[in-house]
Amino acid sequence: MKVLVTGATGNLGALVVEGLIKVMPVEQIAVSVRDPKKAEKLSGVGIDVRYGNFNEPESLVKAFEGIDRLLIISSGDLQGRDQQHINAIKAAKEAGVQFIAYTSAPNAQESNLFVAPDHRVTENELQASGIPFTILRNNWYLENEIGTFQAVLNGAPWVTSAGTGKVGWVARRDFAEAAVKVLTSQGHDNKVYELSGKPLTQQELVTIFNQAVNKEVQVLQVDDNTYGKMMSDAGVPEMFIPFLVSTQSGIRDGELDIESDDLVEILGRPATPLDEVIKQILN
Ligand SMILES: NC(=O)c1ccc[n+]([C@@H]2O[C@H](COP(=O)([O-])OP(=O)(O)OC[C@H]3O[C@@H](n4cnc5c(N)ncnc54)[C@H](OP(=O)(O)O)[C@@H]3O)[C@@H](O)[C@H]2O)c1
Repeated sequence: MKVLVTGATGNLGALVVEGLIKVMPVEQIAVSVRDPKKAEKLSGVGIDVRYGNFNEPESLVKAFEGIDRLLIISSGDLQGRDQQHINAIKAAKEAGVQFIAYTSAPNAQESNLFVAPDHRVTENELQASGIPFTILRNNWYLENEIGTFQAVLNGAPWVTSAGTGKVGWVARRDFAEAAVKVLTSQGHDNKVYELSGKPLTQQELVTIFNQAVNKEVQVLQVDDNTYGKMMSDAGVPEMFIPFLVSTQSGIRDGELDIESDDLVEILGRPATPLDEVIKQILN
């Protein structure tokens, strides 16, 4: 059996490869990356590094040759990535891939989140492909909050316009481990998993944060406009402000409030406690 991971030079892909190395021979692991130079460490340990650019369908067909099980990590390029993912699924079909796992978004078929439409298109393409699949609807990386952690440690309040909306934060490493389990075990065909931690409000996360770092950070609830302005004043590039504001309003509307045991069942253990993850991140 040969497994291939796309996006292996990204954060999640690197963790997935790290996890695969622990459970299977390196000769059975391949990655496709758009810049093989960035993957020299992986080729150095015997991983089969292939060139694959989501914008170049023919490169993907070649990259996926001889692959049995494929993990498509959703592209980090938000421009036209629905087509990029379609290219990857079509290439997998042409190359004879037997199974595809895909990292999607929470409740992707109904979600109003900014990022959901691309995931919806991809999920539909996957279901129509006829290839056995697993959809890994990853909730929110706790690592998304690193900027906020740093800001509050420098004295800023914890600013949010998300109100009491809840998020199923999970360490990125736990999502990676779940992907490894799905790639390397049976029984996941045609399943849609909502991979979520226990949903928490901003205040609940801040309480955990305060315990982890022994501080008394306060939550400052504002409206979306004020939130956007405060992020802009704090130096966040203008191009990211609409994304950040719509994430806050999406959280407020419950888009990331997903109750599910799927992650615990796949991992065979509870998600890593968030206070531990916070300490690891800050170290
Ligand atoms: N659930 C969440 O909280 C959350 C948060 C952020 C992102 N995400 C999604 O989850 C994905 C993985 O997260 P991450 O932290 O690993 O993000 P990341 O580090 O930005 O990784 C994104 C990957 O996409 C690859 N990519 C971009 N354009 C490509 C193209 N044209 N062809 C082939 N590969 C391309 C990048 O390649 P290079 O390595 O060459 O740059 C990178 O490896 C993201 O891409 C995004 O879709 C989820």
